[in-house]
Amino acid sequence: MSDTIDNLMHESRRFAPSADFAAQANASADLYQDARRDRLAFWATQARELVSWNTPFTRTLDWTNAPVAKWFDDGELNVSYNCLDRHVEAGLGERVALHFEGEPGDSRDITYAQLTAEVKRAANALESLGISAGDRVAIYMPMIPEAVVAMLAVARLGAVHSVVFGGFSAESLRSRIQDAAAKVVITADGGWRKGKVFALKPTVDEALTADGGAPTVEKVLVVQRGKNDVAWDASRDLWWHDALSSAAAEHTAQPFEAEQPLFILYTSGTTGKPKGILHTSGGYLTQTAFTHKYVFDIKPETDVYWCTADVGWITGHSYVVYGPLANGATQVIYEGTPDTPHPGRWWEIVQKYGVTILYTAPTAIRSFMKLGHEIPAAYDLSSIRLLGSVGEPINPEAWVWYFENIGGAHSPIVDTWWQTETGGIMVSPLPGITTLKPGSAQQPLPGISIDIVDEHGTPVGKDEGGLLVITEPWPSMLRGIWGDMDRYVDTYWAKFGDKYFAGDGARFDQDVDLWLLGRVDDVMNVSGHRLSTAEIESALVDNHIVAEAAVVGAADETTGQAVVAFVILKARDVEKITPAEASAMLRQHVAEKIGAIARPSRIFIVSELPKTRSGKIMRRLLRDVAEGRPIGDTTTLTDPAVLSVISAQVH
Ligand code: WT7
Repeated sequence: MSDTIDNLMHESRRFAPSADFAAQANASADLYQDARRDRLAFWATQARELVSWNTPFTRTLDWTNAPVAKWFDDGELNVSYNCLDRHVEAGLGERVALHFEGEPGDSRDITYAQLTAEVKRAANALESLGISAGDRVAIYMPMIPEAVVAMLAVARLGAVHSVVFGGFSAESLRSRIQDAAAKVVITADGGWRKGKVFALKPTVDEALTADGGAPTVEKVLVVQRGKNDVAWDASRDLWWHDALSSAAAEHTAQPFEAEQPLFILYTSGTTGKPKGILHTSGGYLTQTAFTHKYVFDIKPETDVYWCTADVGWITGHSYVVYGPLANGATQVIYEGTPDTPHPGRWWEIVQKYGVTILYTAPTAIRSFMKLGHEIPAAYDLSSIRLLGSVGEPINPEAWVWYFENIGGAHSPIVDTWWQTETGGIMVSPLPGITTLKPGSAQQPLPGISIDIVDEHGTPVGKDEGGLLVITEPWPSMLRGIWGDMDRYVDTYWAKFGDKYFAGDGARFDQDVDLWLLGRVDDVMNVSGHRLSTAEIESALVDNHIVAEAAVVGAADETTGQAVVAFVILKARDVEKITPAEASAMLRQHVAEKIGAIARPSRIFIVSELPKTRSGKIMRRLLRDVAEGRPIGDTTTLTDPAVLSVISAQVH
């Protein structure tokens, strides 16, 4: 890894903002100055400018109960009102909020007035199902407008949504529903993906009935999208369209406290159990609206913004739903995969809607690179004026390809570092201000304080690797882990006491620009999505043929990292099944247990695993094996010879 970073850091190309871009940019150097002068006053100003409050706040930050922050806590607001009604009241009801593009080619434009009307009906429908402030609602949906409507309807009631990505298995869905004790599930019959309907409702049925089910769930609301046949439990299931058409049209949004929980979003940690990251209202909305306005330079009157993330991830929450809608932006949402029905699909969408701002992940960019620049070149992408990247480091080669082939060699690229836990972007260039450096996320945003420290919390020097920490509370920070505040403290605060530990390695270069070095814990990053080695290992050992399993993230050209598993079979099974059969069966097993995103790309059946004297698996050495590198320091192993045995079995 450090070799790669050394190469990256020697990347010497620089891209200064053009005079034209700078002249029209939302950001100005004053933002940095204001924030430096008085960080809290700066955030208070943002909260007042970007958010409408029913009760203005007088307190900006209460950190007396650290590490649980309260921001703007004597203020009251309604998040859904901020994303909808206020734009209609301001005379912008006819502005398109969502250009929806379905995978089969159907499309719908939804104005702010229409979206507001739909959310009001959905809020009434949920209320009639017994949902009120504080209740949890699980959302398991394809990327269709109703997913956005569902989130905003839940938020409107002061209830808490837990969106579960539609690719997760019944078991993953069940454990999330159980953990949050959700009362209602909102889903669809199915959605379109890779030219076919993938069913969602049957997975919900299985989650709610098999293995003890989820007894807290009273009702399931089902959007009709795939038109696939679904089983129906009349005492529990309701069609979304029936529920909405019989609901009242008017709904007045009530104000809630700034610290009212807004959503829970599960993310992988270093143990087998996903963490329910809790976000609240006023601070979250402030920072997502702020970053959306300045990092993406959004001009709501003229821009057509497209963030390609699914609402099942934090990027979809912050930069499809809350940030853009709070700012009254017009955006594209697309249901399907980038290559369906042809590899130019994304570029066709950019051309069709005149997309001006595109926000996506390095893994997508690298897969387009592989397909060749002729594909985007066949479309008119001249509307594009700004590009964004998120989820993992973007290698300079992919950066420059994106810049030249998608951005017409004039659109600034913002490489945005943040996490599910941070809620909003933390580190990024500001377009029009920052001279861009491919491969580096560059500077903390105004109002954000970061540092790089060693194991003892002492700041390291320039060009020295260390651990990325956030040294001051920020408005959209997580407020805890749902149901497990001890784990919140242990995971993020116990290491340094007064600093938030992000789990990433990083380095400052001579200009104090930030270079991310990847995770330092047992968390993998596959296509910008976080997966836990422990979670996949526990799915593997749950299979009856597996005695022991170790999982590592090995470098992969397209997906950043790929899941590679080393598995020891139970003695009685070794003779009965070939390694190829075992590997195929276990890959399928993991996909069923967790979801297709967690399916290992390679599984090696081995007879031993490298362990320290205390019995800890040395994943670092397995990564060397998986990446075909010379094997590193093995002196702490009980039996250094096991690695040659494993290498021989693998190659
Ligand atoms: C982890 C957070 C933030 C939304 C998507 C992922 C990595 C994220 C970058 C970037 C280098 C990045 C980090 C981080 N990461 N953005 N621009 N450069 N690394 O959210 O699933 O919570 O994962 O993604 O390792 O800790 P997430």
